[in-house]
Amino acid sequence: MRRVTLTDIFLHPITQKYLKRSGVAHAIATAYHAYRLALQYGVNVDLATKAALLHDIGHYEWYSNGTWDYETYKQNDIHAIKGAERAHKLLIRLGEHPQHAKEIALAILLHTDSYLPEGELKRKPLQTIVKLADEADEEPGGKHHYRQIDDELALKKIQQLDRMVEQQLQRHALDQIS
Ligand SMILES: [Fe+2]
Repeated sequence: MRRVTLTDIFLHPITQKYLKRSGVAHAIATAYHAYRLALQYGVNVDLATKAALLHDIGHYEWYSNGTWDYETYKQNDIHAIKGAERAHKLLIRLGEHPQHAKEIALAILLHTDSYLPEGELKRKPLQTIVKLADEADEEPGGKHHYRQIDDELALKKIQQLDRMVEQQLQRHALDQIS
């Protein structure tokens, strides 16, 4: 079965629509951080980069009078829940393995605990990586959501990351044989 690529995911109209809301540049930067962290922690790079790319796909627009209303957002936001569901539906539609779609959705669900009651959340390595990758690209006041990237460069970066992931998957497959 052919791997569902980051490019397949990125170019889908659903991804384009919602990532433009939360920031394509932030999504791509987070996916690159996730790649690096996945190698460092020995986590599947394919799952980590997909979850990171899609981690903010559940954002709703919290605008009042043309500017982002951060307080209303903080009180009412459930983007991780919405994003997990939205990403899952998209991945299944693209032909992702159901087990992988579930793992990616869970990593998105748990990438933040801002919507949960107080308490320690126990995360698995993949889930931790998506959280760390997101934080690595965060800017004060949510500025990372507004950083712009042009469409052509965005696609190039995604295709490059796909090649990096595929190299790692091949290396991993060779290690299994030898
Ligand atoms: Fe984020």
